[in-house]
Amino acid sequence: MSREAGKSRFQLDLRRHLRSQNICDNLIHLICEIAEASKYVINAVRTGDLGVAGTSNLYGEEQLALDVLSDRILRKRLIHSGVVCNIASEEMDDIYQAQLPGPDLYSVAYDPLDGSSLVDVNLSIGTIVSIYKGCDLFQEGRKQVAALYLLYGPRVSMVYSVGNGVHEFNMNSLMEYTLSRENISMLPSGGIYSPGGLRKKYTPATEKFVSYLETKGSRLRYSGGFVPDMNQILLKGKGVFMYPALTDAPKGKLRLLYELNPMAFLIEHAGGAASNGKMPILDVKPECLDHREPVYIGCFEDVRKAVEFLSEENG
Ligand code: F6P
Ligand code: MN
Repeated sequence: MSREAGKSRFQLDLRRHLRSQNICDNLIHLICEIAEASKYVINAVRTGDLGVAGTSNLYGEEQLALDVLSDRILRKRLIHSGVVCNIASEEMDDIYQAQLPGPDLYSVAYDPLDGSSLVDVNLSIGTIVSIYKGCDLFQEGRKQVAALYLLYGPRVSMVYSVGNGVHEFNMNSLMEYTLSRENISMLPSGGIYSPGGLRKKYTPATEKFVSYLETKGSRLRYSGGFVPDMNQILLKGKGVFMYPALTDAPKGKLRLLYELNPMAFLIEHAGGAASNGKMPILDVKPECLDHREPVYIGCFEDVRKAVEFLSEENG
């Protein structure tokens, strides 16, 4: 073996990277605990039961055994972390109080297994996490202190931000998250579009926006998993994802607390934008755990263009 080939490339692990971010120890601990929990979620995804749990969530959606298990794995870890007061999960009906309010505690909202209905056809899925300082989960997304997602694809990756750049980690053969890309930034505009929902239910303004994207030559990239679809846009630095208002669902489908706020935080910190068509997603005050918003998220100029089309419709 040549000397060069024998040299092991230094891999910066998640904990060390977090230590360089000038954040408090409890937040470092919390993010590392989520990363640890994800290893059990992956194991459940890779080997677990693909059937239904026989229960439904707050939204009346049938829960898969994997949804329930992933939720339990994450919740248990958060409770035992000792640094979390309130927990909200897409799979729970109410906020769970892990401990009474105290100094340097955090609250966490998460979607434990977004896109779980894609597991049986072996497509990529993920976990999405939003973190606030203190115990109030009904704050604007702009007040998040950290956001992250884990992507379970051919490889496992994690993308996080504590408000100081957006960074990607890949899981190595020892199941450690090591830095692969630091300070990810997005182009002002790009040639990918990911349109969610039924097109025949789009309002005229969204239809015009889609025609605009098609005319400018954007390529359709939609897997049906929010995490992989957004990961492609973020890491390639180009494109726009939308889940617009539909004629029979004026608030779209995606949830503010568990899906939109954390993703919008990451995209904005990478130089992109996220809007509900009227205002930035991160400025929307959540009204309930189930709060949904339409969304246009990705490159800054593409989102601006969507808002321009929609403002004609919104008056
Ligand atoms: O949890 C919502 C979700 O599964 C996302 O992962 C995805 O972007 C969206 O729903 C897909 O919805 P639809 O099938 O309506 O396009
Ligand atoms: Mn989801």
